[in-house]
Amino acid sequence: MQDKILNTGAESAENKEPIISTRGLVKKFAGKTVLRGIDADIYEGEKVAVIGPSGSGKSTFLRCLNLLEIPTAGKISFGDDVIYESDYYAQKDKLNDLKDKKRAYLSGADDDEVRALESRENQLKIQLKDLKKELEALRTHAKLLKATSYREGAAEEAEKTERRTAQALRQRTGIKAEIKNVKAGIKRRKSVVKSSLDEAKIAAMNADISAQRIVTSSSLSRHKKFIKKMDRTVDAHRRTTGMVFQHFNLFNNLNVLDNITLAPVKTGVLEVRARRKALKAAAKAGDENAKAELLTLPHKLEIIENARKNAFALLDRVGLKDKAYVYPATLSGGQKQRIAIVRALAMNPRIMLFDEPTSALDPEMVGEVLQVIKQLADDGMTMVIVTHEMGFAREVATRVLFVDEGKIKEDAPPKELFGNPKNDRLKEFLSKVL
Ligand SMILES: Nc1ncnc2c1ncn2[C@@H]1O[C@H](COP(=O)(O)OP(=O)(O)OP(=O)(O)O)[C@@H](O)[C@H]1O
Ligand SMILES: [Mg+2]
Repeated sequence: MQDKILNTGAESAENKEPIISTRGLVKKFAGKTVLRGIDADIYEGEKVAVIGPSGSGKSTFLRCLNLLEIPTAGKISFGDDVIYESDYYAQKDKLNDLKDKKRAYLSGADDDEVRALESRENQLKIQLKDLKKELEALRTHAKLLKATSYREGAAEEAEKTERRTAQALRQRTGIKAEIKNVKAGIKRRKSVVKSSLDEAKIAAMNADISAQRIVTSSSLSRHKKFIKKMDRTVDAHRRTTGMVFQHFNLFNNLNVLDNITLAPVKTGVLEVRARRKALKAAAKAGDENAKAELLTLPHKLEIIENARKNAFALLDRVGLKDKAYVYPATLSGGQKQRIAIVRALAMNPRIMLFDEPTSALDPEMVGEVLQVIKQLADDGMTMVIVTHEMGFAREVATRVLFVDEGKIKEDAPPKELFGNPKNDRLKEFLSKVL
């Protein structure tokens, strides 16, 4: 029965447009790839839990959804708006690969024999390192034996240690000599290879590089245009995307009420200002409707008043109405997080993104925050929540994503994902956390 209800939900979701979509989302930090192509759709009313090992990219994924991180490649849509799209970094990678290939060819490193020799060299180096470690251990052991020479059998053991040390030293000399030989071999082979490079192949490589340069540079100019436009869209996007962090991120120099009303007042005033400007221009051109609407625009005090009213209503919902005028420092972790949730809600978001909202809390405060989130879920708020609270994910989520090594490895309703996991890494992960 339960399954049926879930399935119907999923079917109807497929007919709707997702609120947020990502395609091939890639994020790199200084060459390290953290997200490796994430395709995700979040539909209206869904409660999506994101689980996975530490460092797998869960926070990075969430931060990309809110454009707190600019992705390296891929596409993010918010409703009908494409808020990020670029393949510049991917094209740049292709160009670099082609250049690397040419460099390897020209230096002779591309040759099979060179490769075999180099891998032999690496092997030997590892052996050398191991021997070095062993020799150190032997030396320490010898010292210890010397200090406890009164022990029975100490002399015998010392002799054994000495023998092994001498043997290891001989091995070390042998390996060092072989490394020298292999290195010389690499040098010789490379010069042979270099003297017989194929001019036609080099020309073809150059042609590939030139062609890729053109593709990369045109994708760069598209990327730059997009980023420029994005400055404007980012603000609008973030306004409708409420984000709640592990460490609350409240403004400690503002009281609770100001924390909550700061952003709505600021954006309210900016919106009215922009509208007034537009209306004034229209009125000047003789538009009577514009003249009439100009008179109805709210005054800043009215905007503030409304924001406050809304803040009190929200505070009431989370049971913290009496904390409106205190400063965050006087609140418990659970209270701070509930305020942070209210602050996000005050912007009337279409979707809420939670990044481990309870993992910085003392255990006795986890419940009160989860309760507020559950209430929001029951009220129909769309949400994505990165969490380690498997019980909560099972109870509240309509869908669970398992992220591992920067990819979504499993995507299923909680009952299925927890009850019948398919991916091996997920099975291993669940065996540790459940
Ligand atoms: N700004 C950054 N600069 C460099 N590396 C980063 C940055 N942010 C994240 N990373 C790296 O990206 C990887 C993924 O980080 P992320 O915070 O997304 O993981 P996570 O799944 O949220 O982990 P956790 O469960 O521990 O919160 C980590 O290896 C992290 O060190
Ligand atoms: Mg994280």
